[in-house]
Parts: sequence; C-alpha cells; structure tokens
Amino acid sequence: MDDRLTDIEEVVAGMETADPGSERSGGRRVFVRTFGCQMNVYDSERMTEALSAQGYAATDTIENADLVILNTCHIREKAAEKVYSDLGRIRVLKEERAAAGSDTVVAVVGCVAQAEGAEIARRAPVVDLVVGPQSYHRLPELIVRSRAEGRALVETEFPEEEKFAHLPKRAPTRAVTAFLTVQEGCDKFCTFCVVPYTRGMEYSRSVADIEREARALVEAGVRELTLLGQNVNGYHGEGPNGRPHSLADLVRHLARMDGLERLRYTTSHPRDMSDDLIAAHADEPKLMPYLHLPFQAGSDRILAAMNRKHTAREYVDLVNRIKAARPDLALSTDVIVGFPGETDAEFEETLAVFSEVGFAAAYSFKYSPRPGTPAEKLSDQVPEEVKTERLARLETLVKRQQLDFSASCVGRTMPVLFERIGRRPGQLIGRSPFLQSVHAEAASELLGRIVPVEISSFGPNSLAGVIRPE
Ligand code: SAH
Ligand code: SF4
Ligand code: F3S
Repeated sequence: MDDRLTDIEEVVAGMETADPGSERSGGRRVFVRTFGCQMNVYDSERMTEALSAQGYAATDTIENADLVILNTCHIREKAAEKVYSDLGRIRVLKEERAAAGSDTVVAVVGCVAQAEGAEIARRAPVVDLVVGPQSYHRLPELIVRSRAEGRALVETEFPEEEKFAHLPKRAPTRAVTAFLTVQEGCDKFCTFCVVPYTRGMEYSRSVADIEREARALVEAGVRELTLLGQNVNGYHGEGPNGRPHSLADLVRHLARMDGLERLRYTTSHPRDMSDDLIAAHADEPKLMPYLHLPFQAGSDRILAAMNRKHTAREYVDLVNRIKAARPDLALSTDVIVGFPGETDAEFEETLAVFSEVGFAAAYSFKYSPRPGTPAEKLSDQVPEEVKTERLARLETLVKRQQLDFSASCVGRTMPVLFERIGRRPGQLIGRSPFLQSVHAEAASELLGRIVPVEISSFGPNSLAGVIRPE
C-alpha cells in the first residue's frame, strides 16, 4: 500500500523543478512537506514554482530552509494530527536557527489550514502563516506582510480572484508524467467527508487554461498527464466554443495534442460516470485503461447514510458497462470500514462487492469522525477494535486481489512509459497502462519513451519485464 496514489504520505515537492545551481548559500530556500491527495502534490508543485519566481530554491533539508511549508490534509484525524507533531519539531529547529541568527518562516497551507484557520496559530505559535488551498498564490506577498507586521496572518477566504490566473507559468520539468488540476471542490456532501468544507464548491477550469498548461508540460517532455479533481468526472469547464465541456470532451480535446501520449483522470464519483465518458474509454486510445472509482461501502443502507446517491448494484452494473466498453480496464477503489451503525453483515456486503468486481488496487480506511460533518454526530459509532478487525480482513482480500492482478500480467506484453532511472545500473522504471511500476533493463535514451515490455515476474508493488522489439 506504500505506493498508493490517492493518499500520498509525504512528498518533497519542487525537487524536479528546482535548478540545482540555485541552491547556493545566501539564496533563500523553501522546504515543502505534502500530506494528503494528488491535488495537494499538484498544489505543492505550483506553490514551489510561485516561490521560485521570488528567488526561493527548493530544498529537501528542512534544517536549511528559510521557509517551511506544511501542505496539509484534513481527511482523517491521523492526517490532521501529524501536522501538529511536525510543528513541535519545527519549533525546535526554528529556535536553533534563530540562535544562529537565521529567520525561519513557517506556513501551514492546505485543508487543515482551511478547516482550523486561526486555531492553528493559537495552538502552535511557531506558525507565521495559515493559508487555505484557494489562496496559496498569495504566499509570496503574505510572507513579506507577516515579516513587516511581525505577526501571524491567516488567509482562508475563498477569494473572488481565481488562483490559477495568478500563478506563474509552469516551470521547466524533467518529469515524464505530471498531474494537472482541472476541477476543484465538491458539492456531493458525502456525510463522512470534509472536502466540500475545505475545498469549497465545485469549480472547473476552462479548456483553454488547461490546454495552455498541458502544452507547457508536454513541451518540457511530459508524456502522460493525470487530470485531477476531487470530483473530476463532474468537470464542466468552459470549452473553446464558449459552451461547457464535459470531462470526455476535455479528454478528446487534449488527446489531439502531439507529444501527449497518455491521459488519466482521478478521482471519479460513480454518479458522474456519463455515457460519453464511458464511450471515450472505448474509442480514445490515449485514455489509459485504468480507473479509480471509489464505492465506499457495499451495503445500500450504509451507502444511503453516507449520501453516496448510488446502490451497490448500480455500482457493479456501472463497472460492467465500462468494462464492456473497454474490456481490459483495471479498477481501483476506496472503501471505508466502520461507518456509524455498520453491522458485521453490512461489512460482509463490502467484501462481496470486492469478490464480484475484482480490483487491481484498493485503498481502505477506518471511518474517522470529522468535525463539522453530519456523520460525526451519529450516535452509533463503531468501536475502534471492530474497525481494526474489519480493516485487517479487507486488506487481506485487497492484497490478494492486487497480487492476482499482477500475476495475470505475467506473460503479457504491454506498452511501458519509462519515467526514471532504476536502482540497479542499466535499469529503468516505467509505468504500465494499469499504473503499475515496471522494472526493465533499458538504455537511458528510452526515458520518456513508450516501449513494449513482456512481463516476466512480479513483486509486492511492482512488475519486472524484458523489452520486446516493436
Ligand atoms: N472525491 C473522492 C475521494 C476524496 S477523499 C470520492 O468521492 O471518492 C479520499 C478517500 O478518503 C475517500 O474516497 C474515502 O474513502 C476516504 N475518506 C474520506 N473521508 C473519510 C473519513 N471521514 N474517514 C475515513 N475515510 C475517509
Ligand atoms: Fe468527499 Fe464525497 Fe465529495 Fe468525494 S464525492 S470529495 S467523498 S464529499
Ligand atoms: Fe486531504 Fe484536502 Fe486532499 S482533505 S485528501 S488534501 S482535498
């Protein structure tokens, strides 16, 4: 589960875009720690770029940083609490640096910043800035102001101005794959979830704006784009003709871009899986046959209490329709165990959906009551030890399905996009169409290229194979 994409533990952002020569002594340095989902990874990259335009070089050594940014996640209690344990350590660092005559600015940005606002600076006085996910384009100006005024500043409005319009152009990158946020926020209000409160209402960027960013990335060498949104298949941005474009329209539009070889999108809601998007999976070869489609629970009573607006049968039928359009499609999902009132029998229904669908990967979570959400107030909370036991059972099944899927790839030849140098000399690591890591002996000129690889073996989190002639 270490390589999960929907809940990345920690990523030091900006390393790909930083100019190594700029990390000279005397220049200001920024350290970014990222919690949470891919949208936060994307945001960290964008804020690092905005700061680099102001003379900050990215560093992965927190001790050397003049600016420390925690880009935070509020989705579960554990994720939110990690921020405070980090801030404890950062306080010590800041004091040590101050004793040596260096100033350190500490910024908490992202979803915890949005949810807790000024409370963060009260609880952790080491914090100089609290900035919500819609305002991080203002970081450079806020840093200057907080220094001038000598006090902590909190910026958690949902500003009228749109952050994308104020961010600098994408910086050059050496990456082969990239995230691109096309939609933000969520109006679904699942009863367990904080996202509608931390990210605000659904908002879609225009096709022209997205195309501009995609083109800059492709010109820099990116070959695979993952379009991001909390509810990405609800995308309805302004199209070039002034009329709203659906996600399927956007995918087809971007697929025409030369040099862009692969497209993915995440995360989708089953209710917004429209017929035209399903059709795009059948007839758009650049759209990869892999779909992350959370179902959260297998019991219809629990799904209704979660306000998911679909039943388990509707979910399975939907999967079957998508697979009919694209038979080699592999699926991943998110599931919550121990939602308030979930009985043993209802939990078994979650396992039954797994057995019926068969997932290539899945991310399962113990229900975590979140402040301000309707489910938090429900009286029949499930005891911790019951959640632990259900999670363990589910994870055994998930692991087995993931290994079954990897085993089914052995002997198949699949196009692999090589994206980085492997640990062993002469080895490259790439991505299969199904988002698996694939190791192969390959010349470094193949970085950024899609090459047929015959899969010969698999490990817990990756595949290995041999390049086959095209
Ligand atoms: N927009 C996506 C998911 C966003 S959050 C969707 O609709 O599916 C990522 C995952 O975190 C969710 O799919 C859910 O499984 C999990 N999650 C969200 N809130 C949670 C909570 N309060 N407790 C446990 N898991 C939660
Ligand atoms: Fe949260 Fe539900 Fe929106 Fe996903 S669809 S972000 S789970 S409220
Ligand atoms: Fe977490 Fe915010 Fe993403 S709460 S999962 S960082 S949208």
